[in-house]
Amino acid sequence: MKIEDFGVEIWMNAHETTCRLNIAETCVDSITFAELMQMAGKTQAILGELNALKLTYGAIEGTARLKQAIAALYTGRVASDVLVTHGAAGANALLYGALMEPGDEVIAIVPTYQQHTSIPESLGAVVRPLTLRIEDGYQPDLVALEGLITPRTRLISLTNPNNPTGVLVRDEVLAGIAEIAARHDLWVISDEVYRGVNQADDVLSTSIAEIYPKGVAVGSMSKAFALAGLRLGWIVAPPALLHQVMIHRDYNTISVGMIDDLIASIALENREALLARNRQIVRTNLEILARWVDAEPSISWFKPTGATVTLLTYDLDMPSREFCKRLLDETGVLLVPGSVFGVEGTVRIGFGNGTETLKAALPAVSAFLRKHGR
Ligand SMILES: Cc1ncc(COP(=O)(O)O)c(C=O)c1O
Repeated sequence: MKIEDFGVEIWMNAHETTCRLNIAETCVDSITFAELMQMAGKTQAILGELNALKLTYGAIEGTARLKQAIAALYTGRVASDVLVTHGAAGANALLYGALMEPGDEVIAIVPTYQQHTSIPESLGAVVRPLTLRIEDGYQPDLVALEGLITPRTRLISLTNPNNPTGVLVRDEVLAGIAEIAARHDLWVISDEVYRGVNQADDVLSTSIAEIYPKGVAVGSMSKAFALAGLRLGWIVAPPALLHQVMIHRDYNTISVGMIDDLIASIALENREALLARNRQIVRTNLEILARWVDAEPSISWFKPTGATVTLLTYDLDMPSREFCKRLLDETGVLLVPGSVFGVEGTVRIGFGNGTETLKAALPAVSAFLRKHGR
């Protein structure tokens, strides 16, 4: 099975461990095991819980404890609507594997995380992109969306909040997507790994799984929960679809690690404290970034409403890959070329990581812009 190179992952793999200042990172500044246990009041008890674990394959679909904690993130969904996966990466791969037949059509709202275009294509599906435009505040155009539907369309996919723009689909627009999908009996896969750290309020934003029976939500401990080291994600979907997914999952996952399941359960049971920490980081950092963008004449953007990432449009006569490579070579600052998302003339920045890193990196980007400016 042939598949496109995964642009963003290849870029990150090549540079993230050797750069000096990483402002390409998408996770909220990852939390240590000790910090998490302290937050959960388990510093003493955890060793006992770990010692008692007999290291079997564990609960194959995820423990009831974890599935309940995940279901509690979605109004109206219960543990039997949840399947635990190896990260959201595992969830997305499983979903397309279970749903796609050659010749099916997928409408992908782009730019997006490349799994949502390259995996269906690799399975013989035809991907029809619906491009988000900055002049629409990166909200999908619903008339254009419905215009892309044909008798072969099987599903609509989106990332919400969006990677790479960091913009949340507004509730009425999400409801519009659900209405269109319902009229044409389509699945909607909504990759919601950045859900939980919005800028405007402290509530979880509306999930597709809360408003549409054929809405499939993908979530993860990696980004908003700052626990990528667990490699733990999930699918929330009707049990009949989860059953189809399980057929594939038995072949390539069996179960996720018991220790990861336990730590994720503890984290989600303490989610208010964890998300409060994480929201504080992304809000502090976005304020710093916004002040910089306002003062930087060569940069423009649509200010993100959620997530940990956003696209910056730069006023420089240089392709984005060259921009990022030269920036890295000359300053040690790592950004992501917009070209890996199909948006030339932009770079993706992450604002969820260390505040000091961001503060140190932005002046270096300004100096680079001055040096190479028109
Ligand atoms: C939108 C989106 N989905 C999925 C993933 C993969 O996440 P995980 O670490 O849960 O596998 C990423 C990682 O960057 C992402 O940005």
